[in-house]
Amino acid sequence: MCSSVNVFSTSTKKLINEAIMNNDFLKKLEPQHTREMVDCMYEKIYTANQLVIQEGEPGNYLYVLAAGLLEVIQNGKHLGQMQPGTAFGELAILYNCKRTATVKAVTKSHIWALDRQTFQSIMMRSTQARHEEY
Ligand code: CMP
Repeated sequence: MCSSVNVFSTSTKKLINEAIMNNDFLKKLEPQHTREMVDCMYEKIYTANQLVIQEGEPGNYLYVLAAGLLEVIQNGKHLGQMQPGTAFGELAILYNCKRTATVKAVTKSHIWALDRQTFQSIMMRSTQARHEEY
């Protein structure tokens, strides 16, 4: 379902899996969904001060921070920081809403991303496969 399946190091795969399991929304997904999501993620690098997510915009990616440091801002107010091993950007993807906050790189950051289309096709394929079993 993704054009190229990633060859991760075991530690990267573990980090992404743990980040998904630590996210209140993503941890409710089925293990098969999570496995396929991890396999389809690809790495993006952001420089210090670069915006990863802009509040109010439509969301097309789900992310996991692998290395670096991010800041979360809402209505111009600093809400907190994100450390490596954090999944984010799930709200606009899961609920089809606008981005609820801005996420900005504080330092150079390595981030794994999954695009909306791939996320949706993973969800559809697994649901379809289950229907076909019965
Ligand atoms: P999304 O709304 O798609 O894009 C912005 C992301 O920032 C959001 O998903 C969450 O992953 C994250 N986020 C939103 N509010 C907070 C908050 N108060 N603290 C930390 N992260 C947040």
